[in-house]
Amino acid sequence: MSKDPQLITSPAGSPAWLVTEYAEVKKLLSDERLSRFAHPDPDHAPRFTNSDIIGSPLHSLDMEQQRTVAIQTFIEPFFKPRQISRLELLVRAEVDRAFAAMREAGSPGDVRDLVAYSIPAAVISALIGIPPALRELARDLAHNASNILDPEIAAAARAELDHMCLCLLEHIPSDAPAETMLTRIGRLVGADLTDEVRREFARMLTGVQIAGQMNATTAIERGLIVLLTNESARTRLAQNTALVDDAVEEILRIAHPIYPRSSGVPRFALADLDIGAVTVRRGELMVLDFEQANQDPAEFGCPATFDIERRPNKHLTFGYGIHFCVGARLARIELRSVIARIFDEFPGLRLAAGQEWTRFSELLSGGVRSLVVEW
Ligand code: HEM
Repeated sequence: MSKDPQLITSPAGSPAWLVTEYAEVKKLLSDERLSRFAHPDPDHAPRFTNSDIIGSPLHSLDMEQQRTVAIQTFIEPFFKPRQISRLELLVRAEVDRAFAAMREAGSPGDVRDLVAYSIPAAVISALIGIPPALRELARDLAHNASNILDPEIAAAARAELDHMCLCLLEHIPSDAPAETMLTRIGRLVGADLTDEVRREFARMLTGVQIAGQMNATTAIERGLIVLLTNESARTRLAQNTALVDDAVEEILRIAHPIYPRSSGVPRFALADLDIGAVTVRRGELMVLDFEQANQDPAEFGCPATFDIERRPNKHLTFGYGIHFCVGARLARIELRSVIARIFDEFPGLRLAAGQEWTRFSELLSGGVRSLVVEW
């Protein structure tokens, strides 16, 4: 039986239509009557969050299309299949570094901080071309810029990260050992980099740092928790390492084991549309909830079971359609690289006893503040 959209209040306090059914979420993600950023009346639009990272209307459809073209031109090429070996090398270097830091800190250690938070941020910074000395700062600014509860913290961090990217765009290195997003922008846009264009690119790179680190951190953390709390899955994986890619997909699908979230991605209706018994009016906000869609029993048998042999597993964690996550390939490599190695590198790895879980309630990507392990 299909479930009609439910009227909810968005994190910013606006009315929104929540859609949770797998088939409907998937269909709406490719419906051209819905927009990710454009709104018929942006000044009076409902808001998804109070931060300007996600859920604030972005003027016209033209601007949305320009943004999509910019992502396709300057960002997507770094994640094409022919880039896989470069991505794997980059990730391997960061995983080695993170494991070395874990060993140096000794048992017990916070694997959220040392592994899940550090690897995706460092990799995306390297692809952007942020120099190593600035990467930790970029990571912490991206984290704060994702605060959806305190717009002042988010805006200050975003402005500082924009400024960092702007400074880097003003002095694009010509001698980077491999192409970075910065050098690509310099090569393709070069003399046309007016101040205004440069500011737009800086904002785009800030968005890429945020997108590249926040969800990937939660995915790695989620993978570690589900495997650390599920001995039979861990043993099965150790016995048959060929299952690692299926395990990655299941980690991406399963709800966060400690703090499931229910947020999804926002869309604005550009026309009236009927969904079940509900008519969503032009200009209204919709929230398409992947996390709940991924638990829909009509698509996934025994959805609450963590099954590393689940096939097919067409979860919607990376979205669907025109805005499908450009970094999905990288996120999969990161997750696989951690879970394929960590249990061999740290024999006896287990959750520390008596751990108190506190969540990042201010982050849309959710997650726990620390994940202490012993080995
Ligand atoms: C497990 C980790 C990740 C998850 C769960 C995730 C999830 C998503 C989702 C759901 C979307 C679609 C948003 C929408 O339809 O409104 C998206 C878009 C995007 N993601 Fe990811 N992402 C992850 C990792 C990454 C990484 C590593 C990058 C690195 C560049 C990245 C960059 C982007 C970008 C740039 C977009 C916007 C695409 C567009 O608007 O055309 N993501 N991501």
